Amino acid sequence: MEPLSEEEFKWFLTEVKKNFSLDLTGYKPHRVKRRTEVLIRKYGLKSFREYMDVLKKDETKRKEFIDKMTINVTEFFRNPEKWWKLRDKYLPELLKNRNFKAWSAGCSSGEEPYSLAILLEELKAPSTVKVKATDIDVGVLNKARQGVYPKRNLVNVPEEYLRKYFVKLDDENYQVTQRLKSRVNFRFHNLLTDRFDTNHDLIICRNVVIYFELDVKEKLYERFANSLRPGGIIFIGSTERIFNYKKIGLELIEPFFYRKVG
Ligand SMILES: C[S@@+](CC[C@H](N)C(=O)[O-])C[C@H]1O[C@@H](n2cnc3c(N)ncnc32)[C@H](O)[C@@H]1O
Repeated sequence: MEPLSEEEFKWFLTEVKKNFSLDLTGYKPHRVKRRTEVLIRKYGLKSFREYMDVLKKDETKRKEFIDKMTINVTEFFRNPEKWWKLRDKYLPELLKNRNFKAWSAGCSSGEEPYSLAILLEELKAPSTVKVKATDIDVGVLNKARQGVYPKRNLVNVPEEYLRKYFVKLDDENYQVTQRLKSRVNFRFHNLLTDRFDTNHDLIICRNVVIYFELDVKEKLYERFANSLRPGGIIFIGSTERIFNYKKIGLELIEPFFYRKVG
């Protein structure tokens, strides 16, 4: 197959934004292009134009495309030892603020914000304390609101938490309790184009920025820093680092946890 043209790729990105409201500006272009080309080949097509025609008509293929671009892989208590640190060392302090505000940014199908909700329950946070959970992919947000997960996604959930915070639906599936659900508010939000709230005590943004170009990533961390209250913490993914943390008013408290200076 001939290499696909750059110009047509640019056109394709504009069409994706126009037709499917998915703005891929700021994402690593070679990654978006490579992943799209794989799908084009998979269907034996020859161009971005042909593929766009298919995407407009075929909902399943459209969903597949969006999934491949956004990557929704997640799990409960991803890198568990970090979550226990959060529970034992940082959350008790942060929860002293009566108006505690937490945000799971790029929450995928809900495992991350529900993990935080479990810790809030464990620490007996008042029921008015909620987790805001946002993502750009409406498909995963709907899944998150259902809160149903196969057993294999629950490997990091301690037995005690499984008993307390999940209802067994059948041999394969568990659902988070109503109480846990009421702790989390899911909504659509695009980190690259939508405005950020302020005064967060805790922002969790893990395994999301890896898809963004360096300058976009840096700008995003700066916006996160600005939307923390002084003393607030940002918790990032286990392969990530905020290189310019000092410049944007953060201190490194330990790998993957940064605190807003103030
Ligand atoms: C790999 S998942 C990470 C889920 C979870 N944070 C974790 O670490 O397990 C990445 C999520 O980021 C979301 N995402 C990608 N681009 C985004 C954007 N511009 N705004 C908001 N969410 C975005 C994707 O839809 C996906 O659900």
